[in-house]
Amino acid sequence: MAGFLPHIYDTAMKPLEKTRFEKIRKNLVQQAQGHVLEVGFGTGANFRYYQGADRVDAIEPNPDMSKHAYKRIRKSKTPIRTYEAVAEKLPFADSCFDTVVATLVFCTIPDPVKALEEIYRVSKPGAKILMFEHVKMDQPLMGKTQQSLTPVWKRLCDGCHLDRDTLDLVNRSPLEILKVDSYYGGLFLTIESQKPF
Ligand SMILES: C[S@@+](CC[C@H](N)C(=O)[O-])C[C@H]1O[C@@H](n2cnc3c(N)ncnc32)[C@H](O)[C@@H]1O
Repeated sequence: MAGFLPHIYDTAMKPLEKTRFEKIRKNLVQQAQGHVLEVGFGTGANFRYYQGADRVDAIEPNPDMSKHAYKRIRKSKTPIRTYEAVAEKLPFADSCFDTVVATLVFCTIPDPVKALEEIYRVSKPGAKILMFEHVKMDQPLMGKTQQSLTPVWKRLCDGCHLDRDTLDLVNRSPLEILKVDSYYGGLFLTIESQKPF
């Protein structure tokens, strides 16, 4: 995330966080157990919800985002170790995580198919993949509007695709979808899936 965005991210997100996101994050992230990978942790908005995890390895490519997370890491009761890395090339061995968490990040990852392949590779059989993402809406007019706004939006928000169909990408991957919940008329989804046993 280039330029000014990392500096205003938490402030800009505050109204959404306070109205619904905090609750959505809490419900999703508190399910994370064992050895957890968080992909694209940004400013660490999820870190306080890792109550059921033994430890968290968290990756983020942009130091301008991650530097805002350090206070949250210090406050966390769960050990959190951070890495400067991208989701398309995870610096971890095969089959080592019990849970993977990704929130508001698949819209921005340049190669989301490769990222899902990497998440699959580093997950243990039966591992849960917990995602909270904004997606391309089913409603045709809204979907088309998202498509037409994306070129400008991408430039303003460091590569964020308003029209990314993350549910379809997960559906096409070898992950098994367990549960999908929809928020804001289908603009945001939580997607819970698992690597098959
Ligand atoms: C909108 S922010 C979301 C941050 C955080 N996950 C949250 O829920 O608030 C998107 C994040 O994705 C990160 N990102 C961009 N490309 C990435 C990639 N290839 N792999 C992992 N993270 C990436 C950005 O640096 C940014 O921190």
